[in-house]
Amino acid sequence: MKTRRKVLLLIGSAKQPRSTSGALGSYLLERLGEQGYQTETLLIHKSLRTEGGSNTLLTATDRADIVVLAFPTYIDSLPASVTKALELVAKHRLARGNGQQRLLAIANCGFPEAHHNNTALDICRLFAWEAGFSWAGGLSLGGGEALDGQPLGEAGRRARNAARALDLAAEAVAMDEAVPQKPVDLMAKPIVPSWMYTFIGQFGWKRRARKFGTRKKLQDRPFQRVV
Ligand SMILES: Cc1cc2nc3c(=O)[nH]c(=O)nc-3n(C[C@H](O)[C@H](O)[C@H](O)COP(=O)(O)O)c2cc1C
Repeated sequence: MKTRRKVLLLIGSAKQPRSTSGALGSYLLERLGEQGYQTETLLIHKSLRTEGGSNTLLTATDRADIVVLAFPTYIDSLPASVTKALELVAKHRLARGNGQQRLLAIANCGFPEAHHNNTALDICRLFAWEAGFSWAGGLSLGGGEALDGQPLGEAGRRARNAARALDLAAEAVAMDEAVPQKPVDLMAKPIVPSWMYTFIGQFGWKRRARKFGTRKKLQDRPFQRVV
């Protein structure tokens, strides 16, 4: 009997209960599930809390045909927990990686332009090479806050391009191909014009500051050096 191929989603956001990383990764997993893949999802920050959790992450990685890493960009790079997980996986796989397993990364960032994810995705590509994965490609979404972790199927027009990009990526992955340029371009398309994103973002920050009683402190610079 032919065994079903396995896909493991590693979510690199610590946001609970929902994150944009989770929404994007889960949508892709659903599509791959429809293509006959057996799916598994782990939250990286939760897994790394215990030795048992870290071992589960390593064994899940070992048995996956394809690993999907979905994460938010932090300071142009990966969140610390994701870096830690990649270091663990690389060390664990020193003698194992033979390029038969594949790695696909999905990055999302807060700035409206998707190119802010470039460095983080380059890090993932180099990790794949170092750890013996074949690089299946990287998808990059800007303005991830506009989705705010909402499942793509419920986010309407805002998620239209991201969903289409992931549909196409799933088709390519199922045929053992790398993610082609079309889904990469679709994912990178701004969700809303950047002036609108900034305007809504400013409004959101002020509303949040009011909620926490810090509206008058928004211009504070507590770490500014006084000369
Ligand atoms: C500590 C921290 C650092 C961040 N650094 C960046 C950054 O360098 N560039 C950027 O565009 N967004 C940055 N962001 C914004 C997140 O990437 C953005 O909010 C993302 O949509 C969160 O995705 P998630 O819901 O999957 O966690 C940062 C957020 C945090 C909390």
